[in-house]
Amino acid sequence: MTSTLKIEGLRVEVAGKEVLRGFDLTMHSGEVHVIMGPNGSGKSTLAHALTGHPGYKVLDGSVTIDGVELLTLSPTERARHGLLLALQQPLEVPGVRPLDLLVAAGADPTNLRDRMRAEAERVELRPDVLDRFVNVDLSGGERKRAEMIQLAILRPKFAVLDEIDSGLDVDALGAVARRLSMATTEWDCGVLAITHFRRLLNELTPTMIHVVSGGRVVATGGPELSEILERDGYEPFRTPQS
Ligand SMILES: Nc1ncnc2c1ncn2[C@@H]1O[C@H](COP(=O)(O)OP(=O)(O)OP(=O)(O)O)[C@@H](O)[C@H]1O
Ligand SMILES: [Mg+2]
Repeated sequence: MTSTLKIEGLRVEVAGKEVLRGFDLTMHSGEVHVIMGPNGSGKSTLAHALTGHPGYKVLDGSVTIDGVELLTLSPTERARHGLLLALQQPLEVPGVRPLDLLVAAGADPTNLRDRMRAEAERVELRPDVLDRFVNVDLSGGERKRAEMIQLAILRPKFAVLDEIDSGLDVDALGAVARRLSMATTEWDCGVLAITHFRRLLNELTPTMIHVVSGGRVVATGGPELSEILERDGYEPFRTPQS
């Protein structure tokens, strides 16, 4: 069944300032949507608001998966409704191992360890990382690869990834992009990727690219939009308020 993720008129306040000012985006299963935009335009604020981070106050708008409102649900319930978030700065969770985290998020415990090992191999992550506490003492690249294991086990309807490529070496970037690309066909996962780099798009072909400026989407287009951005920068897309 095709699922739809719909973000409508989302307004979010952070530290007393309205950062998202009417953000709209609709996407479907199996699609790859990419969000690009200048520093401070609200991209991570969107990711935080989608997770239900307490510091990000939703003033207005809605976020639904197949018509079910997520904004009134707890972060765990959002995950159970099919939304997986990978933040720009992944949280360290001392005392919790990756397997426990996955079970808490609703993963079927049957053969879970074996499945995690197999997925670690697919993204070339050393299996001993699976025995450490979540994200503690992991390098940036190891964290991102570990997130790909979460993705593969939880099989969310939609995965939102903030700056998945920041700090990744070329091999890690390729591994992450290929894993995401496979997810779109393996279980029809919808991928919403926030990035600054066109390089990612070589291995993860976008259905649509959205340019964010001043807390809202100011342009939407196909892959050709990334070429325009590379050539002209964000200046032509800036709105008076941004
Ligand atoms: N927790 C916070 N406290 C105070 N201000 C915040 C907080 N989070 C974000 N902001 C402010 O909100 C604005 C948008 O920040 P956000 O992190 O969403 O930008 P971004 O588009 O992700 O930028 P980047 O490309 O640098 O990651 C910025 O002006 C930022 O300083
Ligand atoms: Mg950011």
